[in-house]
Amino acid sequence: MTRSILHLFAHPAPHRSRVNRPLAQAIQGIPGVSHVDLYARYPDFHIDIRREQEQLAGADLIIFQHPFFWYSSPAILKEWQDVVLEHGFAYGEGGNALRGKALLSVISTGGVREAYCPAGHNHFTMAEFLRPFEQTARLCGMHYLPPFVVHGTHSLQKDEVDAQAVELRRCVERLADESCDLGRLEGATLTEVIP
Ligand SMILES: Cc1cc2nc3c(=O)[nH]c(=O)nc-3n(C[C@H](O)[C@H](O)[C@H](O)COP(=O)(O)O)c2cc1C
Repeated sequence: MTRSILHLFAHPAPHRSRVNRPLAQAIQGIPGVSHVDLYARYPDFHIDIRREQEQLAGADLIIFQHPFFWYSSPAILKEWQDVVLEHGFAYGEGGNALRGKALLSVISTGGVREAYCPAGHNHFTMAEFLRPFEQTARLCGMHYLPPFVVHGTHSLQKDEVDAQAVELRRCVERLADESCDLGRLEGATLTEVIP
């Protein structure tokens, strides 16, 4: 059986994207995946809360895909979280709509992998920078999966980007299969825990 996957894509300039666009294309077309380009859908940031909540309710796995901007997401994904994840829907009394679902972050960073450690340029690990996403998922009763991160985007060659896209597709296809127990996935990176 196949899971229902909601792919939320947040890139303000996808026509200039070298990494996120091919990654997004790689997972479109997997059976059960619905793709939403948040900047295209809401260019004025007026998010249709009910529409988004209905889509969320019908999904088993939610993917946030975006470039890393100032150690976080582009603004529209923050706005989306602020308005869609309402009290009584996502958390709090009666807020059980997301319970048991899973959240996967798919992120690209300009910084190289070695920059994301205590001795590196950015001082902190990706896991540390992504704590707000992890705890948001937890508060909503969701499983926060190990993120899929592509580092060093500025120096990646096309064949390296293509290889990452193939790997992402493989991971998402595996996650889409209901025989894959999302609650038991643990580890530093998704590619290490997806056999
Ligand atoms: C506004 C802005 C903020 C950025 N902040 C970061 C950052 O905090 N850390 C980092 O590693 N890269 C940062 N970058 C680099 C982007 O993450 C990088 O350009 C992107 O991942 C490339 O993906 P794309 O080819 O899909 O656009 C930033 C880029 C922009 C435009």
